[in-house]
Amino acid sequence: MKIGIIGCGAIAHEIAKHRKDVVALYDVNSEKCNDIQGKTCKNIDELISLSDLVIEAASPSAVKEYAEKIINAGKDMLIMSVGGLVDKEFREHLFTLAREKGTRIYIPAGAIGGIDIIRSARIAGLKSARIRSTKNSKTLGIDCREKTLIFSGTAKEAIARFPKSTNVTVLLSIATGIDVQVEVYADPNAKENTHEIYLEGEFGTATITVRNRPSKSNPRTSYLAALAPLEVLNLIDSPVWVGV
Ligand SMILES: NC(=O)c1ccc[n+]([C@@H]2O[C@H](COP(=O)([O-])OP(=O)(O)OC[C@H]3O[C@@H](n4cnc5c(N)ncnc54)[C@H](O)[C@@H]3O)[C@@H](O)[C@H]2O)c1
Repeated sequence: MKIGIIGCGAIAHEIAKHRKDVVALYDVNSEKCNDIQGKTCKNIDELISLSDLVIEAASPSAVKEYAEKIINAGKDMLIMSVGGLVDKEFREHLFTLAREKGTRIYIPAGAIGGIDIIRSARIAGLKSARIRSTKNSKTLGIDCREKTLIFSGTAKEAIARFPKSTNVTVLLSIATGIDVQVEVYADPNAKENTHEIYLEGEFGTATITVRNRPSKSNPRTSYLAALAPLEVLNLIDSPVWVGV
C-alpha cells in the first residue's frame, strides 16, 4: 500500500515512525515534512496521484477542501479531523461518492473507545449518548483557576467552538447517529485529556472513560489518537479482525 499524508504534524510523525509505506506528504507549511520519509508534494494533486490511501491529519478545513477530490480520484481516505464531517449533507455526499467510486473512507476511533459497543448497540437501537471531555485549560485557550464547565451543548456546537479539541464529539455523533450532548471542562491542573462517554440503549448501558496522555509534540492531541490510524492500517493489512 502506498500511503500519502496531508498534514505533517504530531499524528503524521507518529504514523511515519511505524510505517515504511509512507510515500507522499503535503503540508501548507512544507518544512513540517522535512523529517518524514516520502516525497514532499507541491500540491494535493501530486499527493493523490502517488497514493493508494490518503491520510488526512491536518484540519477540518482540509477535509472539506480535499476529500471529494481524493475520493473522485478513486483513492481510499482515512480522516482524522472528523470535525470536517460535521455537516450531515456534506458527509452523506462523501459516503455516497465513496460507494459509487468503490473506495473506502476510514474514520478511526481516535482518542476515544467504545465504538465497537456503539456499532453493535445501534443494531437494536441507541437511546442516548453523552460525552464529557476534560482538558488542560491552556490547550483550550481558557484562563481559569479550578476545574470549570466551559461548554454544554451538542457536538455540532462544540466543534464550532473548539475545532481543534472536540473532534471526538463529532466522531461519536457519526458512530451513534445521534447529535450527542457534550460537556467540556477546562482544568488548569489536568495532565491528561479525559473523555467520559455514557451510552444507553436496548443493549443496556455503558460508561467508558479514557484518560489520555497528550502527545509530546501537540498537547491538544492525545497520544492514543495518533496510534488509532496505525491500528486501522494494521486491520487493512490483516486477514483477521479481532473486536471490530
Ligand atoms: N479524531 C480524533 O480523535 C483526533 C484526535 C486528535 C487530533 N485530531 C485532529 O487531527 C488533525 C491532526 O492532528 P495533529 O495533532 O497531527 O495536528 P498538528 O497541528 O500537529 O499538525 C497539523 C499539520 O497540518 C497542517 N495543515 C493544516 N491545515 C492544512 C491544509 N489545509 N492543508 C495541508 N496541511 C495543513 C499544519 O501546517 C500542520 O503541520 C487535527 O485536525 C486534529 O484536530 C483528531
